[in-house]
Amino acid sequence: MTLFLDVNTLSTIVNKTGIPEFMKGLLSYMEQDFKQWLTFDKSARTAAHSKEGVIELMPIANDEIFSFKYVNGHPKNPTKGLSTVMAFGALSEVDSGFPKLVSELTLSTAFRTGVTSIMAAKALARPSSRIMGIIGCGAQCEFQAIAFHTLLGINEIRIFDIDPEAMSKVAGHLAHYPELKLIQSLSAKDCVQGADIITSITADKTNATIITPEMIEPGMHINGVGGDCPGKTEIHANVLTSGKIFVEHEPQTREEGDIQQLAADHPVHPLWRVISGFDIGRDSEQQVTIFDSVGFALEDFSTLRYLYDLATKLKLGEKIELMPTLESPKDLFSQTKLHHSVN
Ligand SMILES: NC(=O)c1ccc[n+]([C@@H]2O[C@H](COP(=O)([O-])OP(=O)(O)OC[C@H]3O[C@@H](n4cnc5c(N)ncnc54)[C@H](O)[C@@H]3O)[C@@H](O)[C@H]2O)c1
Repeated sequence: MTLFLDVNTLSTIVNKTGIPEFMKGLLSYMEQDFKQWLTFDKSARTAAHSKEGVIELMPIANDEIFSFKYVNGHPKNPTKGLSTVMAFGALSEVDSGFPKLVSELTLSTAFRTGVTSIMAAKALARPSSRIMGIIGCGAQCEFQAIAFHTLLGINEIRIFDIDPEAMSKVAGHLAHYPELKLIQSLSAKDCVQGADIITSITADKTNATIITPEMIEPGMHINGVGGDCPGKTEIHANVLTSGKIFVEHEPQTREEGDIQQLAADHPVHPLWRVISGFDIGRDSEQQVTIFDSVGFALEDFSTLRYLYDLATKLKLGEKIELMPTLESPKDLFSQTKLHHSVN
């Protein structure tokens, strides 16, 4: 039988575990998998682009487990009552191809993106970082904010969005964290002034310049999350060239990340090597570090693996007969008769 997790079950899992504990657990799975980077069969995701957005498939495997995620990105979806980013995915045994898990990944992607940002910031930001500016207050925002507050010691967050309602929504949710000082900024510039970390997480299918050179101060860490598709960027090219850039799977980031604006041979550094302790992250307190996040299949692999283990431990989720259970595996045709109702 295949374990199925819908979004309501995921919400139960998160509530039973507690948000910080849930993210902490996911972070340890992700760091463990990034340290095994070379053992994975990796590829850039395949993408079906259209005028309004993109639909992508993200497969990855090691010797034991295969996983994939289906995810879209349609920045105008909120005007139609739909989320910009929606996802689901599956985890299979490599030996048999049998799917062990089919899961929602919309809510999970927001957690995994928050946790990926933490994994990078832990490795790259100054350890003394306490103030973060977040530009973009959509669906992903709170997950980033809570991850940085509860797992990285960020105690002041400034937020900015061109949509005031989105800012109020975030302020409402983050009011449940009394030790977090939250400031609603009047502009992107105000939001990031004096910040140790900048997170840019807007959605617009265009080459936007959300982070511009005059906003940058020595020692900042930039967590660029929203520039994740060809023709969809957030960070000005001169900001990119002024810092040390870190990437997930380089061939994918060269096409999709903010670095698509740079020459194909502009130096970038693999994040997994820093996480594995092979390379250092920042070279000095003054250096600007940039995580050009686009979202890589390995982060979803870790998430699906974590969800499977956690749901099994908590005895949550539904066992479904996604694949036929056959008395004789060669007799698939018998399945055509089993469920016929008799009048
Ligand atoms: N790198 C990753 O792994 C990853 C994962 C998930 C989502 N994303 C990307 O993150 C972005 C945000 O996702 P979401 O689900 O929160 O989208 P969303 O549509 O819910 O929210 C986006 C927000 O950005 C705001 N915005 C747009 N232009 C802006 C500007 N110029 N200045 C300030 N705010 C602006 C919008 O008003 C909106 O509130 C998307 O681009 C998505 O593709 C990346």
